[in-house]
Amino acid sequence: TGAFTFDPGFTSTASCESQITYIDGEKGVLLHRGYPIEQLAEEGHYLETCYLLLYGELPTAREMEDFEYRVTHHTMIHEQMSRFYSGFRRDAHPMAVMVGSVGALSAFYHDSIDISDPHQRMVASLRMIAKMPTLAAMAYKYHIGQPFVYPRNELSYAENFLHMCFSVPCEPYKVNPVLARAMDRIFILHADHEQNASTSTVRLAGSSGANPFACIAAGIACLWGPAHGGANEAALNMLMEIGTKDRIPEYIARAKDKNDPFRLMGFGHRVYKNYDPRAKIMQQTCHEVLDELGIKDDPLLEVAMELEHIALHDEYFVEKKLYPNVDFYSGITLKALGFPTNMFTVLFALARTVGWIAQWKEMIEDPHQRIGRPRQLYTGAPQRDYVAVEKR
Ligand code: CMC
Repeated sequence: TGAFTFDPGFTSTASCESQITYIDGEKGVLLHRGYPIEQLAEEGHYLETCYLLLYGELPTAREMEDFEYRVTHHTMIHEQMSRFYSGFRRDAHPMAVMVGSVGALSAFYHDSIDISDPHQRMVASLRMIAKMPTLAAMAYKYHIGQPFVYPRNELSYAENFLHMCFSVPCEPYKVNPVLARAMDRIFILHADHEQNASTSTVRLAGSSGANPFACIAAGIACLWGPAHGGANEAALNMLMEIGTKDRIPEYIARAKDKNDPFRLMGFGHRVYKNYDPRAKIMQQTCHEVLDELGIKDDPLLEVAMELEHIALHDEYFVEKKLYPNVDFYSGITLKALGFPTNMFTVLFALARTVGWIAQWKEMIEDPHQRIGRPRQLYTGAPQRDYVAVEKR
């Protein structure tokens, strides 16, 4: 009992007002500050989308140059952080390392951040966007036992990230521009997605006035789960497990079986009841990457396309409006780019950081902002008297 609305999973609760991202799930539309995701991904680049999400408008050429300079100005991580990494098991999952290392940044930038000051909020935002690729690359290098690679600020955001992940001190490394463009597009596709679980987590953590780096660490923890950002890793693992097209019907049958907890990973979405617009661009990017690398007849892509085809014509999936989501094709693309599966969710976190921080800033600047504090419907024992241990 209680005078509260019971809404498990918050399916019909708007937790805030926001001007950042609009989704029409029925029609499969995604807009950032009014601009369609297709146009941003095809014609723009990631840092431009970051500017748009943070400031509300597309930058002029001058504003873009200034923004890029300020982001690249903050790519270095305090040298002490490299010692922090050695506390992790050497085979630690890179997402565990990200939760820890981003959280640890709050120790480096705590007293220096006054979140009531708009300038300091913006500096913290830029720091976060600038340092995430460095931290993500360090998590990867640590995991594979290679030395950390320092950022190169003359490279673009995506190029620099690929450089920090794949170059080694003993060999020259040149970033392939087609692959860097694909990486950049993947970042754009993941940049923001309104009040999803991890963004709501960042807002809730931030609503108490907590350190913004710690709030982002909370978002990363939430993103990790297979129902959210972890789905890209799970989707690729599933495609590898299916292996060949002839085994698809078996997995479709399992996904439909009420007594089997198995779900088609990379399928379905709380908001989209139509094709996820990000999945379409991701599929196209996937083809571009495989073409560039000369990968012909990739068996995983073949399984994915056939699985999609069968599911889109199957009564169960049609009735429940289950379509491929952004994570369905991202795994194949990231694998082709050279990333191991356990890095996929880290890349999602890297790209989503701008969304988290833009939403955090919007929340702090909202005059109606109060600490987030949901109520509950209590279903436990009524009041009763304490019983001494010898009498229980
Ligand atoms: N495979 C088979 N059945 C499914 C699937 C799926 N992937 N997704 C949903 N269903 C069924 C589900 O069993 C339920 O059936 P019924 O009404 O008979 O009980 C119905 O569809 C509705 O599902 P739900 O779990 O109530 O929906 P939700 O909005 O709570 O969950 C979801 C959304 C994304 C967690 C879910 O679709 C899912 O688990 N998908 C697989 C994981 C995945 O790909 N996640 C990535 C989401 S996109 C990236 C991101 O933003 O993080």
